[in-house]
Amino acid sequence: MRLSNPLSLLFAAAQVCTAAPTFYWPPWMTGIVSTSWLAAHSWDPTIQIIDTRSAADYAAGHIPKAINIPWAVPLSAWISYGPDDLLLQLPEDNYLFGNLSAAGISKSKRIIISSSKATPPYPQAEAARIAMTMKLAGFPLVHVLNGGITKWHAEGRTVTTTVPTITPSGVTGSLDRTDIVDREYVHAAINNKIILDARDPSVYNGSVTEQWASKPGHIPSAKNLPTVSLLDSNGNYKERAALAELVESVIGDDVDKDTEIIVYCGVGGYAGGIYWVLNTVLGFCNVKFYDGSSQDWVKVYDMEL
Ligand SMILES: *[C@@H]1O[C@H](CO)[C@@H](O)[C@H](O)[C@H]1NC(C)=O
Ligand SMILES: *[C@@H]1O[C@H](CO)[C@@H](O)[C@H](O)[C@H]1NC(C)=O
Repeated sequence: MRLSNPLSLLFAAAQVCTAAPTFYWPPWMTGIVSTSWLAAHSWDPTIQIIDTRSAADYAAGHIPKAINIPWAVPLSAWISYGPDDLLLQLPEDNYLFGNLSAAGISKSKRIIISSSKATPPYPQAEAARIAMTMKLAGFPLVHVLNGGITKWHAEGRTVTTTVPTITPSGVTGSLDRTDIVDREYVHAAINNKIILDARDPSVYNGSVTEQWASKPGHIPSAKNLPTVSLLDSNGNYKERAALAELVESVIGDDVDKDTEIIVYCGVGGYAGGIYWVLNTVLGFCNVKFYDGSSQDWVKVYDMEL
């Protein structure tokens, strides 16, 4: 929205969610924090950084006090495989909470997800997908570290090989799957709800076909909001104003914050980026995530060109 006149300001004031907030941070914070913010808060004992790179990368040097819970496809603490051969599905509750407990993670901590962008932009979307998983797991304070350790390194900030002493937290719980929708749900939403496709424009328009979804094109009536467009030329998330403008250019500037928006991509990685930005940067609060995404859709339905 543009705050160019008093009327639009009034309208903007109405653009808030009616649902209870999921996150508890001050208005000047979002679900994405900068490396400079993190460095300035290195004293804060309530901050817990989770480094999601491989154990080998973590061992070679990490942000001080970070712990390691690797992201790995097709199976890790963060994701499971299947049913029906589906990649990148949400993890089993016992594995997720088992790993979080073993890493000493508790709900009273401010969690910072740090990935790397070795092959941009995927790790930034992965970090968002992991942050989403932590949100569904009921952690109230979760942020993505913008640029991850790659940016941290580039800025010459301190790294260490010292591994923190970990006391298991005993945290347990289950994922809240309210935001997770399936194929039939999305099918019923065609032409009557906002559906956003996070894949690259060439995949959306069918000129490129990805290996996991053999039919070219997109889910009928879906609009294209590529996750790559949320990132700048260095592969880092853009500022809030730029992200707002981008989203408005796709869905319009008159969409209420509690309007339902369904996001999907190829297998559920890229869409994590849009889910996170809509929820935690732009204040939308009714975002649904089609975890099966295109790989699941094409098993039954056709795409649109
Ligand atoms: C962590 O997750 C992995 C992969 O899902 C699983 O094999 C392992 O048992 C989990 N660890 C704990 C302590 O739950
Ligand atoms: C599809 O998108 C790509 C990338 O933006 C573009 O180069 C190509 O011309 C488009 N093709 C069609 C048929 O619109």
